[in-house]
Amino acid sequence: MKKELRRAVIAGNWKMNNTPSQAKALIEAMKPLVADADCDVVLCVPAIDIPAAVEAAKGSNIKIGAENVHFKASGAYTGEISADMLKEAGVEYVVIGHSERRQYFAETDQTVNLRTLAAVNAGLKAIVCVGETLEQRELGYTETLLKYQTKMALTNVTADQLKNIIIAYEPVWAIGTGVTATADQADEGNGFCRAAIAEAYGADVAETVTIQYGGSMNAKNADELVDKVNVDGGLIGGASLKAEDFSIIVKAASK
Ligand code: 13P
Repeated sequence: MKKELRRAVIAGNWKMNNTPSQAKALIEAMKPLVADADCDVVLCVPAIDIPAAVEAAKGSNIKIGAENVHFKASGAYTGEISADMLKEAGVEYVVIGHSERRQYFAETDQTVNLRTLAAVNAGLKAIVCVGETLEQRELGYTETLLKYQTKMALTNVTADQLKNIIIAYEPVWAIGTGVTATADQADEGNGFCRAAIAEAYGADVAETVTIQYGGSMNAKNADELVDKVNVDGGLIGGASLKAEDFSIIVKAASK
């Protein structure tokens, strides 16, 4: 982390876990544990949980995020949710382009870009996910791919809009597998994303962008990961479903 230049952000991504009542209970349990955090604390929750989560987080330092957003403002898109709808419901952040959406829901670099633009234009903060598969890593394409995905996601995004964008480097092979990238691998991946931003916006701008690491980040390895200069926090899956574990990660990023 380089806290003098950029904000550290720990965000949970609950994925398809927790009903509204479970969401309320988990947030109530987390509130006292993260109250004195010296980083931003975000919980990205299933859409149906948003009202309960916003209500439960009221008056605390926990911000609520969504896990996806549609790129159109309104219209005949059955089952989708617009940025304005999220905003009005009290959502402040939204995860975009998670590898599970790329893998199972035909998300492309182009739709990731459109969703990113829709989010920031509506006043949401976008957490844009990029990451290579194991095969791509073994073929030696990690740097090329991370730079490509980062630049594609940011197409037509102005330097001003970039202030509301967080990049999350999530190596696909590390998600939900228990295999964490080493701290050096995380730092290197985040560094590739930052280099792509520097190429597009200049080094000074790139130095101000929060870049998280995600992929089996947990209470045990968080300290070592956030110690790296390019790791400005984390996007946490499994460990964000446990109040105690999540709070330990928040504490690591608060140092
Ligand atoms: P895990 O922390 O469960 O590996 O998930 C990471 C992730 O995909 C966060 O978006």
